[in-house]
Amino acid sequence: MIGIFDSGVGGMSVLREVRKILPDQPVIYYADSAHCPYGEKSKEYIIGRARFITETLMAKGASVIVVACNTATAAAIAALRQEYPQTPFIGMEPAIKPAALRTRTGVVGVLATAGTLKAQKYIDTREQYSEGIKVVEHIGQGFVELVEKGILTGQEAEKTVSASLKPLLDEGADVIVLGCTHYPFLTQTIQKAAQTSHPERDIQIIDPAPAVAKQLLKVMTEKGLLDSKNSHPGTIIMSSSDSSAAEDFYRNNVLNINADNNTF
Ligand code: DGL
Repeated sequence: MIGIFDSGVGGMSVLREVRKILPDQPVIYYADSAHCPYGEKSKEYIIGRARFITETLMAKGASVIVVACNTATAAAIAALRQEYPQTPFIGMEPAIKPAALRTRTGVVGVLATAGTLKAQKYIDTREQYSEGIKVVEHIGQGFVELVEKGILTGQEAEKTVSASLKPLLDEGADVIVLGCTHYPFLTQTIQKAAQTSHPERDIQIIDPAPAVAKQLLKVMTEKGLLDSKNSHPGTIIMSSSDSSAAEDFYRNNVLNINADNNTF
């Protein structure tokens, strides 16, 4: 079984890509909504949560874990790999490399949480792939809170998104990297805000989730972890540290597959 977790519902942007390429594999998703957001929390705190969630997922049968959260990947994946050496962990990568290949203005904008932007993992990735281009960053201020509340479009979402996006566009960015798994749920609003503030520019938005799902498939294939008994859509189990918020979000914003196979 595949275990996926995030500080909240954001990791469902990864879950939806996993379902596209591994539709018959059972998945358990854990939303740590009672402790969301992780963005401003300490590294030690996030490692503690990641350890607890990993053990919860493994106790329910997960044999591979997707850390579907950039902040938790940056803070905790090294510790998790060390503490649970038998379990493969797949993490989020800030997609600066593909962004650097696509930019025409030579400026790449990154939206992420404070925790991700200050983490060594992010700083190393930026250094490795930013030769010849300029990388500008901004915290997606208030984005996670919007998504957790299920507010993905409309005036409030547009105003919030625009405040963090515009500074990147003003610096010349034409590619925007979504460095937090909550943000892809705001793609439509990000596009609209970009169109409003810089109508002349063709803006591309990069969500790393499809690449992460591909990496998961590769690792599961190599390690013989694919459940071959399934010939029907795999079960999805939703669990959360905070009531049923994750189930509602999943039903409203992600579900486009056989509902009978989802257990909550
Ligand atoms: N979805 C998360 C990420 O990818 C974390 C957001 C938060 O909890 O601050 O970074």
